[in-house]
Amino acid sequence: MQLVSKVEEKFKELFNEVPVIIRSPGRVNLIGEHTDYNMGFVLPAAIDKAIYFAIAPVNDDNCTVYALDLNEECKFGINNLEKSEKGWPNYLMGVIEQLNNSGHSIKGFNCVFGGNIPIGAGLSSSAALEAGLAFALNYLFDLSIDNLTLVKIAQKAENEFVGVKCGIMDQYINIFGKSGNVLRIDCRSLEYSYFPFNYQDISIVLFDSRVSHSLASSEYNQRRIECGEGVNIIKKDFPNIQSLRDVSLDMLAEYKTKLENTIYRRCKYAVEENDRVLAACSALGKHDLAAFGLLMYKTHEGLSKDYEVSCKELDYLVELTNNNPDILGSRMMGGGFGGCTINLVKNDAIESVSKEIAAKYQKEFNIDANIYVTKISSGTSLINVKENAEA
Ligand code: GLA
Repeated sequence: MQLVSKVEEKFKELFNEVPVIIRSPGRVNLIGEHTDYNMGFVLPAAIDKAIYFAIAPVNDDNCTVYALDLNEECKFGINNLEKSEKGWPNYLMGVIEQLNNSGHSIKGFNCVFGGNIPIGAGLSSSAALEAGLAFALNYLFDLSIDNLTLVKIAQKAENEFVGVKCGIMDQYINIFGKSGNVLRIDCRSLEYSYFPFNYQDISIVLFDSRVSHSLASSEYNQRRIECGEGVNIIKKDFPNIQSLRDVSLDMLAEYKTKLENTIYRRCKYAVEENDRVLAACSALGKHDLAAFGLLMYKTHEGLSKDYEVSCKELDYLVELTNNNPDILGSRMMGGGFGGCTINLVKNDAIESVSKEIAAKYQKEFNIDANIYVTKISSGTSLINVKENAEA
């Protein structure tokens, strides 16, 4: 049975009514890592892995939510939100808290959700939960919230209720994703532009290291603090500087000895990465994927050596692609400390390259890497189950 039908069937079995169905995708990020909270540019895309919500309103303030893949249920009142040890309910409760805080009037709901975004692989299953529910509640209760505000509500849910000080990229691409296109987001102005990314001979392939380190969220928050420290020092001389986005490499060079070395390297990476996104977009404009791929390798080097958010498994997966003419670019993706590398691979080599890399990775770490060949899909939307052949 199709995934979406399973979700719908379970809903009917539990609640005996016909739900609304919403599809909320995972994401990849082509380039622009750890630049979003530094007010820079990012270049993500929504993918063909998603969470499906089957949802319907109730007449009181009670919510019953069933996580199909985990066979877990959670009940809570919309005015009685307490952090759950199960983890996943917090992403949902965080959204309700934000809606409450901004004065929106909602009621309770019944919901079943399930999907195929691997958890902990850095494909933003958490943003898919947050933004997907924000979208669903906006629709169910006719709240008339515009898309950008939905994004901000979803991000704040994660920042405040879950406690991860993430930037805006994941929630933004979840809502604004468009099939066949990557999205360049300017995280300072929040303006965006689409770039077609639709090649006959090249695919986006993810090698999932299948490691996830428990330090990831505290280290993530720590990187934000370190970048902020750099900005505060530079600001003493240049009061107009608000974020690393406003700092050029030339300006930063003057601070090499004034900033503590770790802080300097964090700032240097973020400033360079921002320039790389712009260079990558101009390469895309010329359909020069070879140039684009080289920038991805540079990003990995920076993330690994200067920003220090990689790990030996991710470094190895990238190293295995070096000098392989069938792979144009490779780098770790997302927050770091585990999850996937993103690779641009020639279509006719996907099978051989995947086999070879998986075998070498298995030999080195005794882990079977997961491999996902992804397609760029649309952002969160209401779907008609019968028409949805993909899921
Ligand atoms: C996570 C965060 C994003 C972004 C990336 C790193 O996915 O949720 O906001 O900071 O890490 O680029």
